Amino acid sequence: MANNEQTFIMIKPDGVARGLVGEIIKRFEAKGYYLRALKMMNVPKELAEEHYVDLASKPFYPGLVNYIISGPVVATVWEGKGVVVTGRKLVGATNPLASEPGSIRGDFAIDVGRNIIHGSDAVESAKREIALWFPEGLAENKPTSLQWI
Ligand code: PPS
Repeated sequence: MANNEQTFIMIKPDGVARGLVGEIIKRFEAKGYYLRALKMMNVPKELAEEHYVDLASKPFYPGLVNYIISGPVVATVWEGKGVVVTGRKLVGATNPLASEPGSIRGDFAIDVGRNIIHGSDAVESAKREIALWFPEGLAENKPTSLQWI
């Protein structure tokens, strides 16, 4: 398992508006993952559409896109062993009513259409999403003291 596996985590507009940014970052850091990149941004509609392009045929797609562009998001990249699968566990099940207490959605959400946070579902989708959200690339910012990660 790669020590430098990466995942894309987005704190959605409701998570930002509800003041959950610090709580979410705290949970990933406490687990031992390294915050590799972070930016707060308003999302262009084209970016939201592209991010969720695989869901374009779903009835909820237009509402999902409008939700993501409704306010600023915090886009992040996290790095560390098993971060894709374990990051999804920290996030919790898609439907917050099915999310385990202790997970982010399980603790802070009740609606699938306002579920606070997105996490990549596989290493390959993480690569696609990181390239999409960070087209400028990631800064070479890893401290030498953390080079085992
Ligand atoms: S599906 O239908 O199984 O492919 O969808 P799923 O994998 O469960 O979810 C994919 C993303 O769509 C969001 N979603 C919704 N948004 C708004 N309304 C409804 N009803 C809805 N159902 C699913 C869900 O939160 C997933 O978003 P991300 O950001 O990837 O978690």
